[in-house]
Amino acid sequence: MRTALPALRVALLPAAVSLAVLLAACDRSPGPGEASDAARSVTQAADAAQSRPDESAEPSGDKPILIGHFASMTGSEATWGVSVDTGIRMAVQEANAAGGVHGRPLKVITYDNQGKQQESATAVTRLITQDKVVAVLGEVASSRSIAGGQVAQRFGVPMISPSSTNPRVTEIGDMVFRVCFIDPFQGYVCAKFAREHLNLTRAATLFNRAQAYSTGLNDAFRKHFSEMGGTIVTEQAYGDGDSDFSAQLTNIRDARPEIIFIPGYYTEVVNIAVQARRLGITAPLLGGDGWDAEDLKNAGSALDDCYFSNHYSHEEQRPAVQDFVKRYQAEFGKIPDGMAATGYDAAGILIDAMRRARSLSGPDLAAAIAQTRDFPGVTGIISMDAQRNARKPAVILKLKNGRPSYVTTISPP
Ligand code: PHE
Repeated sequence: MRTALPALRVALLPAAVSLAVLLAACDRSPGPGEASDAARSVTQAADAAQSRPDESAEPSGDKPILIGHFASMTGSEATWGVSVDTGIRMAVQEANAAGGVHGRPLKVITYDNQGKQQESATAVTRLITQDKVVAVLGEVASSRSIAGGQVAQRFGVPMISPSSTNPRVTEIGDMVFRVCFIDPFQGYVCAKFAREHLNLTRAATLFNRAQAYSTGLNDAFRKHFSEMGGTIVTEQAYGDGDSDFSAQLTNIRDARPEIIFIPGYYTEVVNIAVQARRLGITAPLLGGDGWDAEDLKNAGSALDDCYFSNHYSHEEQRPAVQDFVKRYQAEFGKIPDGMAATGYDAAGILIDAMRRARSLSGPDLAAAIAQTRDFPGVTGIISMDAQRNARKPAVILKLKNGRPSYVTTISPP
């Protein structure tokens, strides 16, 4: 994996992201007719290959074991795909340095879905039917994990999402796992922080009606905040790609909330924050893990003293965290965000399961992943529960000049 890392260092410069995709794509062996194959609809591809050829189920010799990754390497959420990919490649590089899995090296094949749902299904189909990966890692966004997870389930190939938090992701079936908590818990965490730590009673919410993640987290926040004695003074919605939030924010201002819950992605949060301050709204904004991105600094001071829940803080003193931050910084010259950490853990759990699995067939590998207990991850001690979700605490981070700092940890009730 040594060779992949300089390429990824380049990838961290936004202008070079498409180059990174090309380089990542070089990790696979291109086959004839590949472009048209990639364009085939998922249904066609699924019909054509209901079960995988055996060679992928029982790999042998010292041929590399292939792991697939589908991610937003380009598009408006490119920082996520690039971060997760770096975390995954770091875990794989370390595993290879330690002898691989049963003496065989691991190799990651990454496909860019450009942040699109349909491209996610296509990418997973291609990873499984053409590249014959033994498992798939991805995605960050719940809507894209749902699209990719349905394909993985259909082919009986295990998939692990690093950080999709909507419950529907793992409800797809026994092949789909995640190494993060789910939004019914994250909504509880945000409600508890607003009610009990900040001692506030009046909240408004502003969510994306087109994202499974956003609507689910909004529902969970409303439920828990109300149960804790708070009042939701108004709920406002927007759609994918919206950039003008002034109508919704005017309604929110008129409802006089003490805090505004925004369960969206960072791509919208920056605009929302700037426009809210322009309208004279001074209440703090609160969000979930979807806020996690360096780009928050584009909001300037508009997000100062605002909070979001996340999977990890680079300031946590646990040795697993501090070791990871040190190694990542040495390699990539920057502090790893939550996605890099969850990507690293998703790959770590997969590799650990590969070492324990009876074979690398889909069912055997899935069984080994399901048996994960007390895995010492960067984002916490990870055990798979019966629903294939990880049960672990969340951290609350506070923003200053777009930089998050650790406030507190909230554990499952
Ligand atoms: N949890 C979000 C989702 O499920 C995605 C996300 C994870 C975004 C981590 C940022 C950081 O859609």
